[in-house]
Amino acid sequence: MSNPRARQRALAIGITSGQEEGDPLAELKELLRTAGVATAGEAVQQREKPDPDRYVGRGKLAEIKEQIAVCDANLVACDDELAPRQERNLEEALGVPVIDRTAVILDIFADHAHSAEGKLQVELAQLEYNMARMRGLWTHLERLGAGRMDGGIGTRGPGESQIETDRRLARNRIAALRRRLVRLARNRGVMRARREGSSLPSVALAGYTNAGKSTLLNALTGSEKGVGVGDQLFHTLDPTTRNIELSGRDYLLTDTVGLIEKLPHQLVEAFKATLEETVLADLILHVVDAHSSAQRRRADMQAVDEVLEEIGAGEGPRLLVLNKADLLGEEERGEVLLRHPEAVLVSALEGSGLDQLRARIEAAFEDTLVQIELLIPYAEGGRLHELHEVAGDLERTDRDDGVLVRAKVPAAESHRFDDLAVV
Ligand code: GTP
Repeated sequence: MSNPRARQRALAIGITSGQEEGDPLAELKELLRTAGVATAGEAVQQREKPDPDRYVGRGKLAEIKEQIAVCDANLVACDDELAPRQERNLEEALGVPVIDRTAVILDIFADHAHSAEGKLQVELAQLEYNMARMRGLWTHLERLGAGRMDGGIGTRGPGESQIETDRRLARNRIAALRRRLVRLARNRGVMRARREGSSLPSVALAGYTNAGKSTLLNALTGSEKGVGVGDQLFHTLDPTTRNIELSGRDYLLTDTVGLIEKLPHQLVEAFKATLEETVLADLILHVVDAHSSAQRRRADMQAVDEVLEEIGAGEGPRLLVLNKADLLGEEERGEVLLRHPEAVLVSALEGSGLDQLRARIEAAFEDTLVQIELLIPYAEGGRLHELHEVAGDLERTDRDDGVLVRAKVPAAESHRFDDLAVV
């Protein structure tokens, strides 16, 4: 097998308060699948809070140990982030490597980051995570497949001096990564300034991972390929910006990283720069999978709200887009719209509802437009072209002294044409 992780068989463990409906480990299993790890079995304990030393209670721990043998698992994956002490104790008691949700997500991010900046951000997040755990530099999950199972890393044990050396190396590397990220952010700032210079209205797609943001971006821009679409979590890690045209006017549309409940804090930190695109957008389309259960949907929407809040994009204008309408029956469609009357129901896959969505995007910018009337002399055809770019469709009347034009332009742009205004 080409993927070294495919040989990994995890026992998924978690705790539940017993209040939630559905499978409490569904998301962890999906994360593991995305990371290329098979779920060999699962164990859930009902309790209010994790045990501070071992995550689960002693009795459950013994059960888990038996279950590992029964389902032939070589790894335990825990649904929450573990304190280093919990992780150590679990590994000692269970005799197999134990990874937590954060490690799985970091690993997926490492696989899916493509831009130089995305890669650096993930590496930084991983180093910080490992530093907190006094781990060797090599205990990244990817290595775990080969190293740990061969008894190397799984035996837990760089000696003290090795750890010290690693920590020093890690600190140096962290400092170097931060410097490079600052440089890249500066470059991105320059690119953004250039884009802002064109002052096109900008729209960002935000949403829970797998909600269908990339599919929607492709559907709206009419591009089949380009933005990767995958039935995997976190398919998109680097923002992608495209132009879309609505009534002849250009808008910028940016896809962003998929968000998730309990997104490891290091990652929110690391991706703040990338998510900045969302903060700067004039309008955020919050894409939600309408096919998920009402409870799942609420949790997903809350997780997205929290991250947007945390990065400072909580206040701006938003439009709720309920996607995957094609998977709903007539009755279910009515039901979700009743629950979210402000939303637009679409199917990015089949293209239904997109016209309504386009109209709602335009309407959201309506307030920022002002009506102008200009007389453009025939000798100044270039100005007509300039107007066309910001105004889209316009109303024109040809006269002897030039073209009389009525158009709606973004308020910030209107002064550019003051010299031609008809008063
Ligand atoms: P991340 O990159 O994880 O943030 O995901 P995303 O939100 O960009 O989702 P993506 O567009 O990659 O779609 C996820 C999965 O949902 C893919 O398998 C899509 O084919 C599927 N999908 C997207 N939109 C629709 C839709 O309208 N209907 C149906 N049935 N499936 C859809």
